[in-house]
Amino acid sequence: MAKQFIEDLVREMTLEEKLGQMTQLTPEFLGFDPSRDLTGPMNELNIRQEWLDKIGSTLNAFGARKLKELQDKNLRESRLGIPLLFMADVIYGFRTVFPIPLAMGCSFDPANYEKATEVLARESAAAGIHLTFAPMTDLVRDPRWGRVMESPGEDAYLNSEMTRAAVHGFQGDDFREKGRIASCVKHFAAYGAPWGGRDYNTVDMSEGMLRDFYLPAYKAAVDAHVAMVMSSFNTVDRIPASANSWLLRKVLREDWGFTGPVISDFAAVSETIGHGVCADGEEAAKKCIEAGLDIEMTSTHYLHHVQKLIEEGRLDPGLIDEAVTRILELKDVLGLFENPYKDASEEDEKRLFLCEEHRRAAYEVAVECPVLLKNEGVLPLGHGKYVSGEDRGKGLKLGLAGPFAGSGDILGSWTVGGQVADNSFYSGLRVRLPEAEIVTAMTEELLPLQRGVKDVEDRVEEALEKLKDCNVILAAVGENSEDTGEAASKAYLRLSPNQEKLLFALRSLGKPVVMVIFSGRPLEIYPVLDCADAVLQAWYLGCESGLALADLLLGRKNPSGRLSMSFPYTVGQIPVHYNMYRTGRPIRNVADRYVSRYLDCPNDPLYCFGYGLSYSRFVYEDFRVEQLETPLCQEGPEGMSKVPFLRASVRVTNVSDMAGKEAVQLYIRDITAQVVRPVKELKGFQKIFLEPGESREVVFTLTREMLSYWAPSGGFLYEAGEFEIMIGRNSSEVETIRITAD
Ligand code: NOJ
Repeated sequence: MAKQFIEDLVREMTLEEKLGQMTQLTPEFLGFDPSRDLTGPMNELNIRQEWLDKIGSTLNAFGARKLKELQDKNLRESRLGIPLLFMADVIYGFRTVFPIPLAMGCSFDPANYEKATEVLARESAAAGIHLTFAPMTDLVRDPRWGRVMESPGEDAYLNSEMTRAAVHGFQGDDFREKGRIASCVKHFAAYGAPWGGRDYNTVDMSEGMLRDFYLPAYKAAVDAHVAMVMSSFNTVDRIPASANSWLLRKVLREDWGFTGPVISDFAAVSETIGHGVCADGEEAAKKCIEAGLDIEMTSTHYLHHVQKLIEEGRLDPGLIDEAVTRILELKDVLGLFENPYKDASEEDEKRLFLCEEHRRAAYEVAVECPVLLKNEGVLPLGHGKYVSGEDRGKGLKLGLAGPFAGSGDILGSWTVGGQVADNSFYSGLRVRLPEAEIVTAMTEELLPLQRGVKDVEDRVEEALEKLKDCNVILAAVGENSEDTGEAASKAYLRLSPNQEKLLFALRSLGKPVVMVIFSGRPLEIYPVLDCADAVLQAWYLGCESGLALADLLLGRKNPSGRLSMSFPYTVGQIPVHYNMYRTGRPIRNVADRYVSRYLDCPNDPLYCFGYGLSYSRFVYEDFRVEQLETPLCQEGPEGMSKVPFLRASVRVTNVSDMAGKEAVQLYIRDITAQVVRPVKELKGFQKIFLEPGESREVVFTLTREMLSYWAPSGGFLYEAGEFEIMIGRNSSEVETIRITAD
């Protein structure tokens, strides 16, 4: 039941006023200078002047002063004094920029995502934002898709945990509070599975795959009381998500109990025409409203066509009232009727943007995310190997080559108001090693990334001459941030030929080489893997990248990132992820021919989900699984399935002389079920810190609900029987215990 004043307001509103609330326009329509590029084609919207004072929300306008002015103008002009809702893409950085979400997924610690989103909320709230279009939690299995960088990764359980943390980080327990903003989970649903990894392309999959893998993280957001949901561009079972009433009404509202508003993605209502499921704008408006889509982002079919649809009796006006009520309720929960500016404050902007506390948080998160993929004795550079103790690098001659050595383009593509502090790799090394000689060669301007843009042979010769006396060489390679994110799909995932050439040349010097990769996706690094003695996947780490990377390489910090997305050997293996379905012809013997395999490449990825090295060495012992006595549960079978009934434990010891963090991972395998089940599924993880010699018992509990799956009868089903419970340091190196569970 809506509050009385909202019911009264809705009763008093004209149809046009209601449709205005259901429309979101880019801020320039409201007289505001856009601060960033629009992310979609601006259609000919044919907006009428008289609609502008009725619009309910806008996106990606920032700045306390300007947004207060905009709100004032709106309140002066709006007949009923309904405040505007300011939404924005605050994804992983506002002024203080954190690692991209894929990197935060690799931290295997939701607390990092929560810490980051708290800072994002505080900064963007000060800039006048009320709601962020985040977290993006689309499950991703295809690194050709540029948007994998925005997702925590390929696993439903990890993504769900990360999503819960992010929603809480943005919203806190009450997003009306100062420094909190409302969160909108996106892109509902399954936007992360476009065929061929091509953005905006077809998505199609079985309901079982959708329910078991793709939907859980959105549901986790709903369970965490996310304020809004964004529907995706793609189709779900051949119907575009924004016009899909099964998805928006049945799954989201009926099954999951979501009561907030749903917004379309950018012009996605219009795109139902492009998809060919609506003939024109009128049909698009009718189908999307009937499907339960409350806010139309940046197209105006609701405003243009709904009146006629209602007059002709072809659309139920009750649906409009329902949608408007949900939108006004959100404005009310945000407190906008009492304080339409919420936390907008120029003073707070000054105080908070890139403040020491926020930068410290960005550093703390950044050191948890890089993944050490290979280390043949060269890292850490400190601890006496090339630099001793806390010394400042005296006597060290460090080579630094590659386009990301001095580049500030390492923030990724979604840093809306992103302001670059001096975050380059070079600057971090310089600060930590003030007395080292750092020899740079073939850095950014000399090494275009584009495939074959410029031949670099002569440059390579010159670089080798400069670098030949270095003690160790760092090669900073990767992809430009504009090659990642929205509309940045790629069919080739190798480093550019120029960078590969550089790596082969460096190898020829016979010096230790450390490859540091800056990218928004797993790249195809197999062809150059032998060029380096060590490989650190840095991702885009945000505004504290330089120091974080320097500290990890020197051993002042110990790498603890674990891959949340598999690294393929080659594009031809994609999709390749750890939780593949079982097949009838698995490989049992390397010589077998008529089995499910490639002739020219392993089935497994080059580096699997959960993989990552550390400078410490951890030993796993005493792995046990026991079935618990479960007390009778009051709530019947439903409640019973949520009661822990299995306990798995393992003792982990740090047997090295360096303190470090380990991500202990628990997987399960359902031995027989009504439908095919994955070879493995993550069901628990814990990141623990251990001093040298320290030992800890790590305990996981499992519920029957966690062992259930979407059954052909149309519901989640737990079946008693045999399971394998696995614990290990990654998805491939595990110890297994087989149990029979009741
Ligand atoms: C399109 C993107 O798909 C979505 O993620 C974003 O929130 C909107 N544009 C608004 O900028």
